[in-house]
Amino acid sequence: MKLTFLKIFVFLIATVSIYSYVGQLVPQFEEQPPAKKLITVATPPAELAAIGEELVRVKGGCLICHKVTESGNVRGPDLRQAAGLAGRRREGMGADAYLIESLVTPDAYLVPGYPKMMPSAVKPPANMNMAEVKAIIAYLQTLGGAEVSVKILAEDIQAAKAAGPVHKGKEAMATHGCIGCHKVEGEGGEVGPEITKVGAGRTAEELLKKIVEPSVWTAPGYAAGIMPAELGKAIPPGELHEIVAYLMGLSGKSYSPTGAESPWSHEGVRLGLVVLVFNLIMLAALAVAGRADRRPKAEDA
Ligand code: HEC
Ligand code: HEC
Repeated sequence: MKLTFLKIFVFLIATVSIYSYVGQLVPQFEEQPPAKKLITVATPPAELAAIGEELVRVKGGCLICHKVTESGNVRGPDLRQAAGLAGRRREGMGADAYLIESLVTPDAYLVPGYPKMMPSAVKPPANMNMAEVKAIIAYLQTLGGAEVSVKILAEDIQAAKAAGPVHKGKEAMATHGCIGCHKVEGEGGEVGPEITKVGAGRTAEELLKKIVEPSVWTAPGYAAGIMPAELGKAIPPGELHEIVAYLMGLSGKSYSPTGAESPWSHEGVRLGLVVLVFNLIMLAALAVAGRADRRPKAEDA
């Protein structure tokens, strides 16, 4: 009997080891935030304002400079007053039009006493569409205690649909400062080369490597050592794969943002295989135990 227990024990250890070994091969990815609420022409004003508040706080990054409560940042004007003052800011310009302008082309008019520093809400990093800009304005109007007068038009929705969702990789490149040094799709800095088409002559693995270890190669005509080595290491793996998927996509190449090369290396498929192997081993363990039970004499002898 001892031998039977020993066999089962060894099987269990082996199973658990295989399970944990394969388990740690499965890449871990960050949870993506839940899909945001859709804005439509029929979204009620209160709901529109709630979506706008969320945009101001999170995606818009507006609170880096503005405040919407007593405490907060004062690099820009207090947003609780923005809607109230909007109708009087610019000669001959209505309140809604002024608010739209102040988000889309903030440099067209500077509030007296403030510098030119606000980034356009429709460009990276915020990258809002017109429906989102109007949701923010609905929020600013509610915040100022006024009626929501901004209207979502069918063409705002159409334009947002035509533009498509912003690729997560593009967003990640803005968040992690790549756009500060590189031009992508016509926008960005000029410290490094334009990388819109960098995927054409490179594999996904090479791009991944270049981002986490910039010294692997140096673009012709540029100095080595400028692209920060610590930058890529701080990017979560999920976003890293998104960036590579985006850059490969710009050259018409496909790369799964989960980092998977083929369906067999997809995490879901791998997990399935792990479960299958686990079950097979359990069955084998039971079979061995069963056989041993049927021949106790032989085993014990
Ligand atoms: C880097 C700082 C910065 C960020 C980020 C920023 N703003 Fe501003 N904002 C300013 C400054 C400075 C002004 C005043 C100068 C001007 O008019 O551009 C301003 C002006 C405004 C005005 C006009 C206010 C008035 O009283 O007329 C509005 C409205 C506004 N910002 C909304 C936003 C929203 C919404 C966001 C987020 C999508 C945002 N801002 C992001 C700095 C910023
Ligand atoms: C401080 C500026 C700077 C930042 C930030 C930066 N890079 Fe670079 N990058 C450069 C420079 C300069 C080069 C050219 C020299 C070299 O290859 O190292 C370069 C080269 C590259 C190349 C190779 C281009 C080619 O034609 O071979 C890729 C791809 C790249 N960067 C991607 C990125 C990504 C993705 C990020 C953001 C995670 C990023 N870079 C952030 C400066 C920067």
